[in-house]
Amino acid sequence: MKAIQLSKFGLDEFKIVEVEKPVPGPGQVLVEIKAASINFRDYLIARGVFAPASDLPIIPLSDGAGKIVDIGQGVTELQIGDRVTPLFFPKWMSGDALGDERSVSSGLEADGVLRQYGVYDERAVVKFAEHLSYEEAACFPCAGLTAWTSLVTVSHITRGECVLVLGTGGVALFTLQFAKALGAKVIITSSNDERLERAKDLGADYTINYLNEPEWGAIAKDITNGRGVDMVLEVGGTGTLPQSFKAIRRGGHIPIIGNLSGAKMDIEVYQLILTNAHLHGIGVGHREGFEQMMRFVGNHELHPVIAKEYPFEEASSAIYDAGEGGHFGKLIVNIKT
Ligand SMILES: NC(=O)c1ccc[n+]([C@@H]2O[C@H](COP(=O)([O-])OP(=O)(O)OC[C@H]3O[C@@H](n4cnc5c(N)ncnc54)[C@H](OP(=O)(O)O)[C@@H]3O)[C@@H](O)[C@H]2O)c1
Repeated sequence: MKAIQLSKFGLDEFKIVEVEKPVPGPGQVLVEIKAASINFRDYLIARGVFAPASDLPIIPLSDGAGKIVDIGQGVTELQIGDRVTPLFFPKWMSGDALGDERSVSSGLEADGVLRQYGVYDERAVVKFAEHLSYEEAACFPCAGLTAWTSLVTVSHITRGECVLVLGTGGVALFTLQFAKALGAKVIITSSNDERLERAKDLGADYTINYLNEPEWGAIAKDITNGRGVDMVLEVGGTGTLPQSFKAIRRGGHIPIIGNLSGAKMDIEVYQLILTNAHLHGIGVGHREGFEQMMRFVGNHELHPVIAKEYPFEEASSAIYDAGEGGHFGKLIVNIKT
């Protein structure tokens, strides 16, 4: 079978290789992978920025979807023909991951989905909602679940609350879609007016161009008539946290997922005390959250936004483009054979 390997860091170092098709052992399933999607992490991994000490070669990409084509002895919950997505953290079933649940992640410590077939423990894959295509389902393992964990698992956002979403990246668009389906109001920021218009089409109630409006935190607070937003999806870190504090309501939630504007957090302790804000470090999420999210996606028939699809042979271009930015929605690699 074909796989794409990275045996040296560098965006030009992806190679298509022939490897042996795996065979499922007891408790395992063989998945024919049909589609993959790119996250910003994949771009950083390829450049050797995310985890420079990683053992190479790796098969990249955490997010994919496929069909079960064989099962090992003792598999009870799944059958041949089931359409599934592998988990980002194959060992994290629920709870706070106090043991080694997060020691292995797909596309880094474990082989990712940029290959025609993969063997997984049956608890490391989850069936996805019937209305989703393989390409759509491939968007959920990291990007979708990170949005769900931020919005629901840690912030408990409900109908009538107000969410501030920073940027229009993959996790941000899922957060917008989930928040609207939950009945919340959404304020979204972007560096680009065209992307803000497209966010409106997806249901965003208010938009702010953060380049034109450096005081976007105060503007968001004004939109809520001075009360403050119930949650900020924090993607920026150093450059955005001071504004996020201006936007948050007393006792509101700030799930921190990224550091696109700097990794150091220069927090004014007094501001934290004043706002009673809850800062949450987010690491994607667990199987229980994924199952809950997938039920919600099915009930609301949500479809992820897909920006562009690439053939398997052009996967490296997709990863390169993910780093360049400017796309609205997920970048997909087709792995159909
Ligand atoms: N902790 C976790 O579990 C987890 C999971 C997934 C992702 N992440 C991290 O979260 C971040 C976003 O991931 P992604 O996959 O959604 O990325 P992405 O699809 O590449 O999107 C990045 C977007 O972030 C926005 N952005 C960049 N700088 C910004 C700033 N200073 N203020 C506001 N928005 C800004 C841009 O929006 P505009 O183009 O609209 O300006 C850009 O499109 C990355 O750092 C990623 O590594 C973390």
